[in-house]
Amino acid sequence: KFFQPKSSVLAEKKVLVTAGPTQEKLDPVRYLTNHSSGKMGYAIAEEAANRGAHVILVSGPTNIQPPANVTFNQVTSAEDMFEKVMAYYNEMDVVVKSAAVADYRPKRVSDQKIKKQPNDLAIEMERTTDILKTLGEQKKHQLLIGFAAESEQLEFYAQDKLKRKNLDMIVGNNIALAGAGFQGDTNIVTIFKKDGTSLLLPLMSKKEVASNLLNEIELLVKENEK
Ligand code: CTP
Ligand code: CA
Repeated sequence: KFFQPKSSVLAEKKVLVTAGPTQEKLDPVRYLTNHSSGKMGYAIAEEAANRGAHVILVSGPTNIQPPANVTFNQVTSAEDMFEKVMAYYNEMDVVVKSAAVADYRPKRVSDQKIKKQPNDLAIEMERTTDILKTLGEQKKHQLLIGFAAESEQLEFYAQDKLKRKNLDMIVGNNIALAGAGFQGDTNIVTIFKKDGTSLLLPLMSKKEVASNLLNEIELLVKENEK
């Protein structure tokens, strides 16, 4: 008997996944970051590779091993991630932006350790580049999937980001629910699509979320090819 490989819409497709937090440097000993573990993005990268895609994983600092069979790119800051993602963008078929990118960075990075001061220390901040928004503005043939981490009004904010960033799909994540969000092995998400439909998934492992999400992505890829 011959081994019959599972055929997949994603076979030979080029999929870029971003994952993890970013770190924004303040001085030689300090940085600003967030609680993202990278688990969701790594699960998506692994599942896409298992379905035969060529996967590029661009990841901020995490404590997890990159999956086998993905091209791994380690980055630190939002600016590093922006540059890496833009360098790959034109040749990609699908981009999934699950990274928790810092929205602000210190305006000045001090060469020396910042010392305690007589007054309260105030750190002047500036906005980072919105990577996903830039991808949306420069979108050609690519399918663009974003994430929205919200603690309230999930549907409203997720739909707003879907439109504003010119996405094909957004994964809304209610971080206020037990079993959802940044550090754990499970998640509770709603997938909102450009056509106005949505899919509410119950509590499940991040690997199962990845599998459901890739099923939806496969449907979009098929539609795109019609
Ligand atoms: N994102 C990005 N670049 C940034 C900030 C966010 O690419 N500088 C992406 C994230 O990777 C995610 C999506 O935008 O896919 C939504 O991130 P989120 O933090 O939920 O939304 P923001 O647009 O940053 O808005 P806010 O934090 O104010 O809710
Ligand atoms: Ca943000």
